[in-house]
Amino acid sequence: PLSAMEQEDKIMQDLGSLHGIPLYKSFIEGWPRVKAFQARPDDLLISTYPKSGTTWLSEIMDMIYHDGDVEKCRRDAIYNRVPFLELKTPKETSGVDQLENTPSPRLVKTHLPVQLLPTSFWEKDCKIIYMARNPKDVAISYYYFHQMAKIHHDPGTKAEFLENFMAGKVPYGSWYDHVRGWWEKKQEKKILYLFYEDMKKDPRREVQKILQFLGKELAEETVDRILHHTSFQEMKKNPAANYETMLPTLMDHSISPFLRKGISGDWKNHFTVAQNERFDQHYQELMAGSDLHFQMEV
Ligand code: A3P
Repeated sequence: PLSAMEQEDKIMQDLGSLHGIPLYKSFIEGWPRVKAFQARPDDLLISTYPKSGTTWLSEIMDMIYHDGDVEKCRRDAIYNRVPFLELKTPKETSGVDQLENTPSPRLVKTHLPVQLLPTSFWEKDCKIIYMARNPKDVAISYYYFHQMAKIHHDPGTKAEFLENFMAGKVPYGSWYDHVRGWWEKKQEKKILYLFYEDMKKDPRREVQKILQFLGKELAEETVDRILHHTSFQEMKKNPAANYETMLPTLMDHSISPFLRKGISGDWKNHFTVAQNERFDQHYQELMAGSDLHFQMEV
């Protein structure tokens, strides 16, 4: 048997480049099947940059799809209920395999930048929900995720990680390109663009937006149940939502839990004044000319 150290070596991955986007090498090996993926017209795609509330939105969507039936939403872990399209690890089955075995209507998770989304999703005119989160909180959340999710290399110091994040030298590349790319696509395609900060501020209003987008109506008490079940506190203690069922060799929740803080503005506890000024200036440069705006706290 492999020693713990050797197992870690197997899991930890150098980043390769997928059409210029830094990505885990095993994902790149699986790319041909992702590129050729056959979407179905009733697939719903949940798209995000990592650490932007993907799991939260996934749980909300599964609850909506099951009319607020909490027990049905405990049938499996969230990463199986909403398969991760481009996931590919050397050993496990891939996201594409999982999706092929999932009955319609499917919920599909991706972190791909808009230009890399398999064309089939556009051809089949699938509904897409994108969720964005302010980059300061994303960077901090991603820093802790690098420490607990063992596919990643040691992120170094917070200062070093922030530099890499700003430069797009992290898995999935530039946050700025990602949020802008999907924002611009919204002009021509059926995309509901949501913000983590809005969801924190008024989850009921955001769930209503989703229902309207789906053309679905739910009773007030069903919406209440969905909001309760998908609150941070409920999800944190729900083994089907909190990722604690993942192998400890893949995720170490004792370093940092997957559901870590779940707030907007935690970056204030981490950024120095100088880092914040530098980040703001860089943000202004990269977001210049865009009508996409973020709330850095709520
Ligand atoms: P923090 O690390 O800031 O706590 P993703 O699912 O895209 O990987 O995003 C993970 C982030 O979403 C984590 O942020 C996690 O705590 C937060 N999150 C997950 N479920 C949440 C919920 N129900 N409410 C608020 N935040 C949630």
